[in-house]
Amino acid sequence: MSGETALATDYASGALSKNSEGELERLRLLQEWGDPDTREVLRTAGLDRAARCLEIGAGAGSVARWIADACPDGSVVAVDIDTRYVRDIERPHLQWRTGDVRELDFAPGSFDLIHSRLTFCHLPEREELVARAVRWLRPGGRLVLGDPMCMPAAGSVHAPVRRFFGALEEGWAAQGSDMTRWAQTLPSQLARAGLTGIGVLTRANCLGGTGPYAALAAANIRQEGAYLVRTGLLAQAEVDAVADLCADPGFTDIRSITVYAWGRVPTDGSGARAPEERS
Ligand SMILES: C[S@@+](CC[C@H](N)C(=O)[O-])C[C@H]1O[C@@H](n2cnc3c(N)ncnc32)[C@H](O)[C@@H]1O
Repeated sequence: MSGETALATDYASGALSKNSEGELERLRLLQEWGDPDTREVLRTAGLDRAARCLEIGAGAGSVARWIADACPDGSVVAVDIDTRYVRDIERPHLQWRTGDVRELDFAPGSFDLIHSRLTFCHLPEREELVARAVRWLRPGGRLVLGDPMCMPAAGSVHAPVRRFFGALEEGWAAQGSDMTRWAQTLPSQLARAGLTGIGVLTRANCLGGTGPYAALAAANIRQEGAYLVRTGLLAQAEVDAVADLCADPGFTDIRSITVYAWGRVPTDGSGARAPEERS
């Protein structure tokens, strides 16, 4: 696979970078689809008015803004490799930081809540980052993650779906994203990092129809499709075929399950003891 193809969905310079026309609109559609579940998950995991919070991969900023409003006596640090879309979101206790989370460090116990959605799946160092995030939490602090478990493209009965998402799978694999297996392991990853009170919420996402996920999927296909055509992985006709299929009101196909998982650092100092893995 060529270097350029390997960047098919890369957030710094590929199809989903903020240099791409349409990325702001795509992130807004993503927020419209994901924010109701994320808010429910954050409320369930527990939000205190005075919490010190870290948002990783802030995107277009709606979650960081919502957390800041839910924690008026606390503080929010929101990190993204590219913060150009959030510059006009201002709160006195909300700080935007531009940087690669893999290169940042915080003192142990700096935060009461760390949240990240659809970002760890893209980072090859995702397991190590879970362990680091747990160290940045105080005893009793919460880590909340949400990532997608995409259906294998080969499992679809629809040829356009197999071709388009098969090409995308190649791009993801080449850049170290894990869009298929990582999310399934989220609850175990949190337990393994020593968190307790693990909670899980799942959301199935179908191609077709007219809801917020359909709008997001159409934007994903437009943007990723243009890139896959430019890099020679797909013909424009193959992108058009999957876009047309998804626009057909009678069409539906399960594309992914979003897994949200959360847990707490024990308060009794029993800390990071990995449960036995069962064979
Ligand atoms: C799929 S978007 C999700 C945005 C937001 N979390 C949401 O769900 O609305 C992934 C975000 O993570 C950011 N990102 C990707 N790699 C990153 C890294 N290494 N460090 C910080 N941010 C990163 C991207 O710039 C992008 O804004």
